[in-house]
Amino acid sequence: MRIGILTGGGDCPALNAVIRAAVKTAAGYGWDVVGIEEGFDGLVHCRTRPLGTANVSGILHLGGTILGTTNAANPFAYPTVIAGGETVERDISDTVMANFRKMELDALIAIGGDGTLGIAQKLYEKGMPVVGIPKTIDNDIGGTVITFGFDTAVNTGRDALDKLHTTAESHRRVIVVEVMGRNAGWIAVNSGIAGGADCILIPEIPYDLEKVAESVFARERQGKHFSIVVVAEGAFPKGGFITHRDPKQAGREQRLGGVGEQVAEAITALTGKETRVVVLGHLQRGGPPTTFDRVLGTRFGAAAARLVRKGEYGRMVALIPPDVESVLLKDVLAKRKTVPLDSDLLLSARDIGISFGD
Ligand code: F6P
Repeated sequence: MRIGILTGGGDCPALNAVIRAAVKTAAGYGWDVVGIEEGFDGLVHCRTRPLGTANVSGILHLGGTILGTTNAANPFAYPTVIAGGETVERDISDTVMANFRKMELDALIAIGGDGTLGIAQKLYEKGMPVVGIPKTIDNDIGGTVITFGFDTAVNTGRDALDKLHTTAESHRRVIVVEVMGRNAGWIAVNSGIAGGADCILIPEIPYDLEKVAESVFARERQGKHFSIVVVAEGAFPKGGFITHRDPKQAGREQRLGGVGEQVAEAITALTGKETRVVVLGHLQRGGPPTTFDRVLGTRFGAAAARLVRKGEYGRMVALIPPDVESVLLKDVLAKRKTVPLDSDLLLSARDIGISFGD
């Protein structure tokens, strides 16, 4: 067997742990492994490198991905500059299929989020033997209880909140912390609870700024003259819209961001309190993975190689406790996993007095 491995979409802690486990497991079967560089772009331009056990030695604790990645190389909507300088999206998936055969690959392990896994499913439908591994700090992929990288991102968020508490208290300020997560509030809720946030705004619960201000006033009445507000980048006001950083570009998803500033300005206007904004941004994507993510990444990587060995393609490895199992990729892609409104996670947060701005 000769298998390819690629990492697509945004990077994420523990990608290297996954690559390492898949390569070591494959090597144990006596297979050749080819690393495909920069996601599907490596299949478009045939950029590869051999991946033996020596190449994955010493990478377990490293953030990022040794293979490189991109979120602008969807072969079904590939950004292409045409005459006049305009960038348009073109379907070049047939080229990718041909390159896969040219590289004499028997199977592909695609490590990525919903974008990468969606491409993997479409290539599978075109005949490519593909196995998926769910990666994202956003934790918004269905079929698996958790994605690797999420735990590390939440820890980064929690660490930031721990640090911001003291300065917020010293200056009697409201500090608004904008976290990532796209259209899911998992990072905001978990880092907010762990970091003692007073108010958490998530895409699943459109917020009312008057209610956010009320949570600040409630703390003032308790003699707490500072507040920490965590805002998910995809949160939006009741009757309002998600905030985007810039217009949509061909071949890539539109970037979210900026809602933290809006919420902070409104809090100052409504409460008269001084506010500051911290946008955690890509800090949440970097750094050494937590123990949990290293273990989960290792389990996912090894399980993916076992799926290939069994010839179970069109599937994604998934944590369905207590074990890592597999699910059909097409089932996973049908619906984004968001924070359930009736979850005990939200209920418990509300029970201890956290406001969701509703
Ligand atoms: O999906 C992971 C993620 O980090 C999101 O939370 C965020 O919106 C996005 O990627 C940022 O992507 P980029 O790498 O394009 O800035």
